[in-house]
Amino acid sequence: MTDLLEVRNVSMFFGGLAALSDVSFGLRKGEILGLIGPNGAGKTTMFNVVNGFYHPSRGEVFFKGGKISGLRPHQVCKRGIGRTFQVVKPLQRMSALDNVIASAFLRVKGKGRAEEIAAETMRFVGLYDDRNVISKGLPLGKRKKLEIARALATQPELLLLDESFAGLNSAELDESIGIIQKIKARGITIMIIEHHMKVIMSISDRIVVLNYGEKIAEGSPLEIAHNPLVVEAYLGEEQSA
Ligand SMILES: Nc1ncnc2c1ncn2[C@@H]1O[C@H](COP(=O)(O)OP(=O)(O)OP(=O)(O)O)[C@@H](O)[C@H]1O
Ligand SMILES: [Mg+2]
Repeated sequence: MTDLLEVRNVSMFFGGLAALSDVSFGLRKGEILGLIGPNGAGKTTMFNVVNGFYHPSRGEVFFKGGKISGLRPHQVCKRGIGRTFQVVKPLQRMSALDNVIASAFLRVKGKGRAEEIAAETMRFVGLYDDRNVISKGLPLGKRKKLEIARALATQPELLLLDESFAGLNSAELDESIGIIQKIKARGITIMIIEHHMKVIMSISDRIVVLNYGEKIAEGSPLEIAHNPLVVEAYLGEEQSA
């Protein structure tokens, strides 16, 4: 079966630093792939390569069989890849709903249709009651949901989530896990970067581990939890924390 996304031998250099070194992996339609590893391992850089912010120094990225590395971010988004950002940056002075309407316009032309999609998306993530709040005034947990809503409103087939759970309290965590599961149930494929091991282990179908820009492991959550390389590079420290 052809992969929905294929990352093939990708390297990304910043000056002398190899943020990614010859990384390859695939993503099957409908699955949730966790991307984990210590700080600075190259996770966000991988998202930036996949969504077209960076063009890889070496290697290629394919989506639905077509090459996307080399395209610009809005072109990648139009092909069907939506993303959130580790540092939330919705347009601060717009209302939450207007932010999501602005995203919806990437795919639809009419204002009415964009408003419909935005309203539906706000209900889906549980933000509808906050739709008229200026984005800047939302607490972190809701800004994280707004980020997800903005990405969803572009109607992606693949959604990239960069630490959408960071800083959430445990009730918000549970709620966000529920949202991710609902997104998956809609048939949307998900790649997720997350440091919360309980979250990543419970929702991922498969996990890829990066360390210093290299892929050191790939497998089921159970395989990853017991992989000595991963425990040494990353999990040991997390589990004792
Ligand atoms: N635009 C850039 N210019 C120079 N160096 C960069 C750039 N972007 C990332 N890096 C470096 O590449 C490495 C990987 O960074 P990246 O942000 O991908 O890590 P990460 O795995 O997302 O870490 P974290 O868990 O802390 O978010 C780091 O050493 C970082 O300093
Ligand atoms: Mg990061």
